[in-house]
Amino acid sequence: MARILDGKAVQQQILDELKPRIARLAAVRRPPGLAAILVGDNPASQLYVASKVKTCRELGMHSEELRLPDSVTTDELLAHIEHFNQRGDIDGILVQMPLPKHVDSRAVLLAVRPDKDVDGFHPFNVGQLVANAPAPRACTPAGVMELLKRSEIPIAGAEAVIVGRSDIVGKPMALMLLHAHATVTVCHSKTRDLPAVCRRADILVAAMGRPAFITAEFIRPGAVVVDVGINRISDRAEAERIARGAPAKLAAFEKNGSVLVGDVHPGDMAAVAGAYTPVPGGVGPLTIAMLMANTVECAERRLA
Ligand code: GUN
Repeated sequence: MARILDGKAVQQQILDELKPRIARLAAVRRPPGLAAILVGDNPASQLYVASKVKTCRELGMHSEELRLPDSVTTDELLAHIEHFNQRGDIDGILVQMPLPKHVDSRAVLLAVRPDKDVDGFHPFNVGQLVANAPAPRACTPAGVMELLKRSEIPIAGAEAVIVGRSDIVGKPMALMLLHAHATVTVCHSKTRDLPAVCRRADILVAAMGRPAFITAEFIRPGAVVVDVGINRISDRAEAERIARGAPAKLAAFEKNGSVLVGDVHPGDMAAVAGAYTPVPGGVGPLTIAMLMANTVECAERRLA
C-alpha cells in the first residue's frame, strides 16, 4: 500500500507552530497583516483568495481582500499596490495570478516591495532563491519542501524530476530541490521520451496543469509522487478515464457533476507510487500554510 502524504495534517502542524509567534507579535505590537488583491472573476482564483483570507482570520492575523474588475488598468493596479506598500499595518501583499492579458504582470510583480512580497515572485526574491539566500520563497514549492522534510523523505542524492517549468512552481521547485542536494531534471512539453525521464525519479513532481496526464508508465514503482495540479473535470468520458482504479472520483463526479483531479492519474499513482500527495488535500493546504509563514516572517522582520 502506498503511503499518503497528508497535506492537511502537515498544514495544521505548520499553522500550530505559527500561533505563538502571531500571539507574541499581537501582544508586543500588532497582529501580522496580509493584503490580497484579486482581479476579475475567475472562480478558482476567488476560491484560493477566500481560503487564504479565511486562514489568516482563523490565526488571528489581519487580512484584507481588494477585489478589482477585469477592466482594471496596469496603472490603477500599481497605485493600489503602492498604497499597500506604504501602509504600516500591512506586512504582506499578494496579487493573485493569473492577471488579465492586458495587465503588465511583470510590472505588477516588480511593484510589490520585496520585503512585503509574501509570494516570493519579485525578481529580487527570485534572485535570492537562486543564490540560496534568505528571502520569502514561492509558497507552493516551499510547501512541497516542508511536506517532504516533515515526512522524512530523503532528498540529498535523490533523483528529482519535475514536469513543468512555470515561474510559480517548476523553476523555484528545481532550485529548492537542488539546494537540498537532489539531482534535478526539469521536463516540459518538448522533452523527448517523457515517460522514460520520469521513470528515473525517486521524487516526481507533476506541475504542468494537464489533468491525470502522468500515468503508470511515468512512475517508477516505489517513487514519491508529488501532484501539484488542481484541475476541475466536468466531462463524463474524462471522469471515467480518471476513475480507473479510483472509484471515489467517479462517485464524486456523479454527486457534484464535476470532480477535482491533479496532473497525475490518481488510480495509477496509488497503485505504483511508494508515497504520494492526494488531490485535494495534498499540496494545496501547504501553499496556504507557507503564505501564512511568509507573512509572519515579514511581520517579525518589520517589527523586530
Ligand atoms: N496562482 C497560482 N498559484 C499562486 C500563488 O501561489 N500565488 C498567487 N498570488 N497566485 C497564484
